[in-house]
Amino acid sequence: METKIFAHRGARWCRPENTLASFQQALREKADGIELDVHLSKDNELIVIHDETVNRTTNAKGFVHDLTLSQLKTLDAGCNFKLQASSPLLTFIQRFRSLLIKKVYTHEKIPTLGEVLDFLEANNFTGCLNIEVKTDHIHYPDIETILSEEMVQRELSFTYLYSSFNFRSLELLHELEPTVDLAYLTYNNQNEIERGLEADFITALHPKKSYALSKHFESSRKPLRVWTVNAERDIKKLLTKNVAAIITDYPEKARRIRKQC
Ligand code: G3P
Ligand code: CA
Repeated sequence: METKIFAHRGARWCRPENTLASFQQALREKADGIELDVHLSKDNELIVIHDETVNRTTNAKGFVHDLTLSQLKTLDAGCNFKLQASSPLLTFIQRFRSLLIKKVYTHEKIPTLGEVLDFLEANNFTGCLNIEVKTDHIHYPDIETILSEEMVQRELSFTYLYSSFNFRSLELLHELEPTVDLAYLTYNNQNEIERGLEADFITALHPKKSYALSKHFESSRKPLRVWTVNAERDIKKLLTKNVAAIITDYPEKARRIRKQC
């Protein structure tokens, strides 16, 4: 089967991560899948953001779980954006482009998961949405139930899967949605890999690229979607290893490389 290309936090290389702008760009770049991260706000809304705090990606400071949805909606999720340079030779042009993009997207808002689902539906997305449940550093009581309720009430035109570094979150999601695709996120840690391979309800592994790129690795009993793979040589290597998917900040570049291979 052809290796799929998943857009990591959207097309993060050129748009503020985990915003509707980055998901729109991922659609433009024809990503097969889109990856995003979810946390819970103070009033138990599913918030699409990577970090536990808003410090890095917005103009404010604080934990997501200490802010209500209406407080989060006042924040600017585009103001700290920096274009990821694809070549050092293009630095000057890229810096200019970065400023331009920052100006255009500077008032981008943090979306809720519901808003992202509506957006993908409205734009006829037919790929796979990878929802990462960010419970590895913070315990959000009931996030799995709230998430599952949000997902099952919808008739979506696209498929979805849950991933998490937190094994317990995946167990809970399995109880709530016994047939859903569940991926265990791992680093390059053999014990974690074994745990994911042995648990029947885990349908795939999402290992860090160093695991799948290691010269000892040949194949896996379960599909591998590997993160976060941005360098051309790594993308090429993983394509030859026939992994199920590559999770990348550069979906269009990865698609171009896949076409050439
Ligand atoms: O889902 C793969 C990858 O997103 C996990 O790492 O830190 O980017 O959420 P992180
Ligand atoms: Ca993630």
